[in-house]
This record gives sequence, structure tokens and C-alpha cells, in this order.
Amino acid sequence: MKPIKVGLLGIGTVGAGTFNVLQRNQEDIRRRAGRGIEITMVAARNLDKARGIVGAGVEVVADPFAVVNNPEIDIVVELIGGYELPRELVLKAIANGKHVVTANKALLALHGNEIFAAAQGKGVTVAFEAAVAGGVPIIKALREGLTANRIESVAGIINGTTNFILSEMREKGLDFATVLKQAQELGYAEADPTFDIEGVDAAHKLTIMSAIAFGIPVQFDKAYIEGISQLQARDIRYAEQLGYRIKLLGITRRTRTESGEGIELRVHPTLIPASRLIANVEGAMNAVLVQADAVGASLYYGKGAGSEPTASAVIADLVDVTRLATVDPYCRVPHLAFQPNEMTDVAIMPMAEITTSYYLRVYVKDQLGVMADLTRILADAGISIDAVLQKEPGDQVNLDIILLTHQTREKNIIAAIEKIENLPAVIGKVTRIRLETLS
Ligand code: NDP
Ligand code: HSE
Repeated sequence: MKPIKVGLLGIGTVGAGTFNVLQRNQEDIRRRAGRGIEITMVAARNLDKARGIVGAGVEVVADPFAVVNNPEIDIVVELIGGYELPRELVLKAIANGKHVVTANKALLALHGNEIFAAAQGKGVTVAFEAAVAGGVPIIKALREGLTANRIESVAGIINGTTNFILSEMREKGLDFATVLKQAQELGYAEADPTFDIEGVDAAHKLTIMSAIAFGIPVQFDKAYIEGISQLQARDIRYAEQLGYRIKLLGITRRTRTESGEGIELRVHPTLIPASRLIANVEGAMNAVLVQADAVGASLYYGKGAGSEPTASAVIADLVDVTRLATVDPYCRVPHLAFQPNEMTDVAIMPMAEITTSYYLRVYVKDQLGVMADLTRILADAGISIDAVLQKEPGDQVNLDIILLTHQTREKNIIAAIEKIENLPAVIGKVTRIRLETLS
């Protein structure tokens, strides 16, 4: 059988990794796919750089539309990043009857519903394993491996850059800016690193996993997002003294509220007991913990970013798509796991309604009765306390009081924090970090 022809859009960190791994392992990949997979055309901005990577045998062009409009190309691999240009390119490739592979979670979190509908209409596939957790095959696991299960929750460390920053800050005491620069040099960070730091990239990935886990449309606009930029080194330290690690966690779960069933969709720094496996995921590694009714808990772990780990997922998709050539479009695995006409409209819950535990750090004047005031406010709100720690942050005058609470609704803690901040002895804002036991 003739090799399948692939056009690459963008040859940066992931594009170059994809080209190199495909070259290096071409024989094994051919034996698995049933035919060869050849990159025959590449679109790049810097043509000389691209030619330096792919050599003389591959056509290099400046116009990415020349790739998606080329009738010789069977599969388009989009590795440019961003929203608008990739959206146009992917929709054009689909309209031209080409299968698409992309690592672009931003694109799918925002335009996934439109793109999957277009692909369904044309009988082509859009594959996106690399879009979530880099080299970890979590999309395949959620969509196919766990297909017998009712999935209850998915919780993951799904941004390598922020996990790398938190690990280096905790282990080596390095400052935020130094570690971020390292993450950029290592190729982990997005073109705009605020996407990583502010939790947007993790929310893109979580949105995609939520749709697959629960059979709902992608709804990035409903995600609650809080990043790590406000996190202070002393909170990381105090959490550790209390037996916890702070991780940027993406959590999506089915929940029952007074008004019925809802889906939580949230990304925020989270205290996790240090004894949990997932709390020990360090550096740019990713891990996703899935709770499902038949299998119970399962954990997926591996490199969540970087050139070849991500290329591994891109090529797995290329092999899958190559094998699809002979499969009737209606017999294929649906893009979001559930058949398009079987999606449900369970609502994403407002953040005020979610239930979790909390770490509160209150910076106070060292006065008699302040602890009693704090505990009274929490008790009046029906919030019980799990642990208390009192620390001198170093100024010899004031105190940090750290309280861990048992579970309560977010709206209750918000109301209690407002009262705490109005106490005369309290200085500034209360630091609030959510806590999940993940048990
Ligand atoms: P890079 O910035 O390293 O690469 C992007 C490439 O696209 C560059 O080579 C750039 O060219 C090229 N490009 C940009 N605009 C155009 C254009 N108009 N026409 C042709 N080429 C263009 O990004 P990454 O490889 O890191 O990321 C690619 C995608 O993969 C993104 O969606 C990202 O979110 C995703 N991803 C990245 C991971 C990682 O670890 N890096 C992991 C998982 C997903 P030039 O170099 O000339 O500017
Ligand atoms: N910037 C992303 C991260 C790349 O740090 O996880 C992988 O998607």
C-alpha cells in the first residue's frame, strides 16, 4: 500500500519532534499502521529553519493554506497554536475531506463543537491526543479504555509549566520568575506563558476531558479558572508543614445540588494530602486521576509537555487515522466518546455551589481574642475546623493563622471570609486555597 501523505502546519517544538520521531521510528510505525506515514509538505514562517529540520525531500512553503488545499495531502497536522488561523485552517482541511491531527487544546476548547460537527458532516476525523497531558494517552483512556464506566470525576495536574514552577519553588526555594524562564527554555510554556500561569491552558484541557467524560459539549466559557500567580512561597511552606502539597489542579466531576445534577469544571491551586500519589507528581510531569464506577480509581502519569513526548501522542493519532482509512465513518470512535446525537445538557455548576475544604491564611495583629473571633465566625457559618497552625512570618509583630476547614459550600466560605476581613485585628485579605482529599 502507498504511504499516507501528511502535511505539517508549523514546525516548532512539537512539529520538529513529530518529524524526528516519525523519521527515527518509521519502520516500527509502518508495521503498526499497516502502511508508511510520510510528511511530504510543511508550512512554516521561517523557511530556512524548517528546511534545516526536514532536509531536501520535503516541500516547505510559507502559506499554510497551500498545505490544506493540496489534493495530494491525506492528513493535515496542525501544530501552529492559537485560535483564529488554526480554526480557519482546520475547517478548510475538513471541507477538503482531509483528516486532521492537532495538539491545539485552545482551539478545541473554544471551537471544538463547531470543528467536530464539521468533521462529522464530512466523514473525517479530528484527532487530538496531544492536546491534553502531552504524551500521556488520557484521551484514549477516557474515550475508549473506560467506555464501560460511568465516570464520576477527573482530577489532574495537566499543565507541565506550572507544576514545574511549583516543584522548583518548593524543592529548591527558587523564585517564580527564574523558574518560569527555565520552563520557557525547556519548551514547556505556551507562546504566551500567562496561559500557563493563570490556569487557562489547564482549563482548555479540562474542558476537553469534561466533554469526553460526561458526554457534554465543550464549554470553556463556563470553566472557573484561577492560576498560580498569586500563590505565595509561605503558603507552599505552611501547606507542607500541615502534610499537604499545593498543585494546580483541574477538577471536573458530577455533583448533586439542591437544583439537581450538575458538572463541576474548575482549575485552581489545591492542597492535596502529601501521601497521595498525585501529590508527588513533580516537574513538568502530568497526572490524571479518574474515578469511575466499574474500574474505581485509575491514575495516568507521564510527560505532559516537551517536543518528543508530545510528538508521541501526535504520531499515535496519525497511526489511528491511517488505520481508519478503511472504516465506515459511522463505525468510528466518536470525537467526544458519545455519539453526537447522544450528548446531554447537564449544566456546569456555578462555583458558589461547589463543595470542598479550604486552607485559610489570616494575617493578624497579635491580639488577645483574635483566634476566638475567627473560630466563632466559622462556627456561625456551620464550617468546622480540621486543623490550626499559628506562625510568625518574620516581622515579629503580626501572626499568620492558618485554618484548614472541613467541607462546605463555596458561598459559605466566601461569606465567612468577608466577615473575617472586617475584624479589626485582621490585616489585608484572607488567603484562600481549596483543599481536596481525593480519597
Ligand atoms: P512553537 O511556537 O514551538 O511552534 C509553532 C510553529 O508554528 C513555529 O514553528 C512557527 O513558526 C509556526 N507558525 C506560526 N505561525 C505560522 C504561520 N502563519 N504559518 C506557518 N507556520 C506558522 O509551538 P509548539 O510546538 O510548542 O506548540 C504547537 C501546538 O502544540 C500549540 O497548539 C501548543 O499548545 C501545543 N502543544 C504544545 C506542547 C509543548 O510541550 N510545547 C505540548 C502539547 C501541546 P516560526 O518558528 O517561524 O515562528
Ligand atoms: N504549556 C503546556 C504545559 C504544554 O506546560 O503543560 C503542554 O500542553
